[in-house]
Amino acid sequence: MSVTRYSEGRTGFVTLDNPPVNAIGKSMRAGLLDAVAWAETENLDRVIVTGAGRAFAAGADAREFDGAALEPFLPDVLDAIERSFVPWIAAINGVALGGGAEIALACRMRIASPRAQIGLPEVTLGVIPGAGGTQRAMRLCGLGTALEMIALGKPMRARDAKAVGLIHAIEDDPVEAADLVNTEELQCVVPTWELPAPEPDKAAIGAIRAKAAARMPGQIAPRRAIDVIEAGLSLPFHAAMKLERTTFLELKEGEQSRALRHMFFAERAAKAPAGLEAAPADLSKIAVVGGGTMGAGIAYGCLSLGQQVVVLEHDAEGVDRAAANIEKLIAKGVSRGRLDQSGAEALRDRLTISDEYATAGDAGLVIEAAFESMEVKRDIFGKLDEVMAPDAVLATNTSYLDVDQIAASSRDPSRVLGLHFFAPAHIMRLLEIVRGAKTSDRALATGFALAKLLKKVPVLAGVCDGFIGNRIFSRYKEEADMLLMDGSNPWEVDEAMEAFGYAMGPYEVGDLSGLDIGYANRRRQDATRDPNRRYVPIADRMVQEGRLGRKAGVGWYRYPGGGGKVIDPLIEDMIVEEAHFAKVERREIDGDEIRERLVLAMINEAADILGEGIAASARDIDLVTVFGYGFPRWRGGLMHHADSIGVAQIVEKLRVLEAANPVIWKISPVLLDCAENGKALAEWQSAAG
Ligand code: 3HC
Repeated sequence: MSVTRYSEGRTGFVTLDNPPVNAIGKSMRAGLLDAVAWAETENLDRVIVTGAGRAFAAGADAREFDGAALEPFLPDVLDAIERSFVPWIAAINGVALGGGAEIALACRMRIASPRAQIGLPEVTLGVIPGAGGTQRAMRLCGLGTALEMIALGKPMRARDAKAVGLIHAIEDDPVEAADLVNTEELQCVVPTWELPAPEPDKAAIGAIRAKAAARMPGQIAPRRAIDVIEAGLSLPFHAAMKLERTTFLELKEGEQSRALRHMFFAERAAKAPAGLEAAPADLSKIAVVGGGTMGAGIAYGCLSLGQQVVVLEHDAEGVDRAAANIEKLIAKGVSRGRLDQSGAEALRDRLTISDEYATAGDAGLVIEAAFESMEVKRDIFGKLDEVMAPDAVLATNTSYLDVDQIAASSRDPSRVLGLHFFAPAHIMRLLEIVRGAKTSDRALATGFALAKLLKKVPVLAGVCDGFIGNRIFSRYKEEADMLLMDGSNPWEVDEAMEAFGYAMGPYEVGDLSGLDIGYANRRRQDATRDPNRRYVPIADRMVQEGRLGRKAGVGWYRYPGGGGKVIDPLIEDMIVEEAHFAKVERREIDGDEIRERLVLAMINEAADILGEGIAASARDIDLVTVFGYGFPRWRGGLMHHADSIGVAQIVEKLRVLEAANPVIWKISPVLLDCAENGKALAEWQSAAG
């Protein structure tokens, strides 16, 4: 039962009731249509529609989008509501999004609670409003606001919705307020579809096209939404509604909408694995070892969510530096309006910074975020053993080092796990939770509990060099360097990957994080690297020449005066020279080949990660690549993208590369298995999963 109804006197009360957020599926649409007929048969004066629980309605049930649209269709239901002789009032008690907002727009009046939010975020799912949102919103709130709301998909708060004319009133109890509306006044309100469309405004349309292209590059839905709104300015209402519906149905079937829906549900499904039932450690007090950029970000994130935090440093100078780093983040929070002065003060009150490890003795969790050196980390874990309660959980934020080796320096390795944050740690959503060979369920459960507290997207990873994300990223950078040797230059590679959908290519990213980080990793790997593996020394030479990236003013690009990047022709000379030393004949490589090689390299590595049980599912790899590494969300993450190309086709392309270099391009057994058995990567189950 997803719609309930009853009448009192001549008022009908209809409640949208499909927990948890009243998504609109077939039975709710049918229930609404029945309610229209019921109100007319009963000859009611009005119908008040509201939502059960915390939401009015979160929009069309996106789980239905994979199949054909099912009758009754929402536009027809809303047409019936709008044309009924019994006027409907929307009492918007919580979020009214997508189809939820469209129900409200088709009502004669809208009264919202102060907590309500109204929006048409369909573009974030790769579609456009499909039940009148594009046509009704502009008639109510004007062209400019409707364009922003629909093309960018950002919901508005009740008071903003009132200010632009989308709703009539804000009341603490919108149902009661709707009941008190004068009947004659209600009868006089013109149905939305009868209002005139706004005047065409080429400048406004041009401006929103530019804004949407900049904010959502590569995405089709925002562009198509603007087209439909623009067409609606001169078409009769019903013709525009038809155009809107066909566009919605076409986009719903498209690759981008499938990918965005996949990400929407993957993000919500990212939780502790089923069966992990151990109780987590107490997280009311958390210690962070190291107040550098990463440690300060972690500490600030925990403080912002109300925890007590102790930051440990090795000496007084370290304490001062940590204090300055955290203070900078607090000041930024205040200047951006995320914190007011009293909030900032409360946050400082919850913070202790000390070089006495004993200060952290009663914390339930310690997160080590010190310098990336096995020696330093083992030393810290040894010290933590001395001061922490025996049931405290100890985590390392290492990006590459062996969590099992770090754990071995604790008397109780079962309480040690990896918690791999991404910088800036208080902003980036991904948290890799690394299970060591001896990590206990309790330690793991603590990692997942922390992710929930910090509103992060948790992904379970096994121990290997780089875990899930950095291992894929290392292979990406390795292949990019091979492209340099074979004929590309850094700006061509960056441009090709930006065209694929990354905000930045690998070389600009390298300059931002510092080239010395990759250098140190390669030195660490020297001892174990297969001597038959092709090795490109260009990135090493960059570091040896002091080209460390942005912080040095020069890296793969130059940054004159600390400003934006400028192409440096000397880099190309250096690459040509290295190719000459290596006896490589360079050739033209176009953007398509660059993209293909880099994406195939990542897919092959990721498939091995699945095969080795380092990641439990393709979906987890999608989350890591999108939330930690800027893989375009609208492509659904690396493995979803691979499935959309087709594993058989990927294997075919890999065979050509493998023939040229069987060491680098050894095809992953997971890909071969999927290709042979006609399976998608999404269906592949690792032994660990
Ligand atoms: N369809 C199906 N399921 C949905 C849904 C939707 N539109 N919106 C939310 N859900 C599910 C979630 O998957 C989750 O399920 P789970 O409990 O099994 O994991 C559950 O509802 C709760 O959702 P959240 O965890 O996201 O809860 P929050 O309280 O954090 O957020 C929300 C609530 C703000 C409503 C958020 O869920 C949201 O943004 N939903 C999507 C809104 C949207 O994009 N609507 C447009 C849909 S397209 C449309 O309406 C087309 C129309 O024009 C024809």
